[in-house]
Amino acid sequence: MKSKIVLLGPPGSGKGTQGEKLSEEMGYVRLSTGDMLREAVRNGAELGMKAKGYMDSGALVPNDLIIDLMKEKISTLEPGTGVIFDGFPRTVEQADALGEQIEIDLALNLDVADCELVERLTKRRSCPECHCVFHLTHNKPRQEGVCDKCGSPLYQRDDDCDETVCNRLEVYRKNTLPLIDYYERKGILVTVEGTGKMDEIFAKVKEAVR
Ligand code: AP5
Repeated sequence: MKSKIVLLGPPGSGKGTQGEKLSEEMGYVRLSTGDMLREAVRNGAELGMKAKGYMDSGALVPNDLIIDLMKEKISTLEPGTGVIFDGFPRTVEQADALGEQIEIDLALNLDVADCELVERLTKRRSCPECHCVFHLTHNKPRQEGVCDKCGSPLYQRDDDCDETVCNRLEVYRKNTLPLIDYYERKGILVTVEGTGKMDEIFAKVKEAVR
């Protein structure tokens, strides 16, 4: 049976990048609350309309909305599926709710300094269709402005501007950082240095998962 993994780390630490690699290479299902919310905004769904204002300002979407969304997703998983939770939980209340639904085997924390995070986020370009991410200098798409994977035009997320990035980092420190202690106390926390080449970080991530 494959593991249930929580990816922790500040905005821009590489949760999406490493989670996607794990999903492609090791067959994990990656559940990203950020991707789900952006999809709901794009489709004009009720959840998206409720969430947009919070997301645009860098605040967290209220716990009850997120917990209901995740419970619904978890209920559709086949038993024994390996799952990566990317961007969830983000508060102790969300972590408690997740723990009531499913047993988490590993909390993998990507550690990256703030100055690097700002540069990563403001130069990130994202694919609205397949959610692949690129970076204007560290991870350029083969053709400028076009997703390597599905050929869709890339865009810059509304919350990847300087001001909102600073707020997201504040919100992370206040609400999500306590989860490091939370999972350490449960004895399942592994911290990986998240700065350096993406493939080298992925090798360390795989080692932690195995
Ligand atoms: P979400 O989409 O989850 O955003 P986040 O946590 O801020 O994380 P990011 O997606 O910004 O970064 P990442 O760690 O995935 O980094 P990535 O791999 O892309 O959430 C967005 C919003 O939705 C929240 O602000 C909130 O409003 C709401 N929300 C979501 N979940 C919620 C929840 N549970 N509760 C309440 N609200 C919620 O990499 C970043 C960039 O760096 C890319 O350009 C990449 O190419 C580059 N990069 C990656 N690795 C490296 C490397 N090693 N070296 C150089 N560049 C690198």
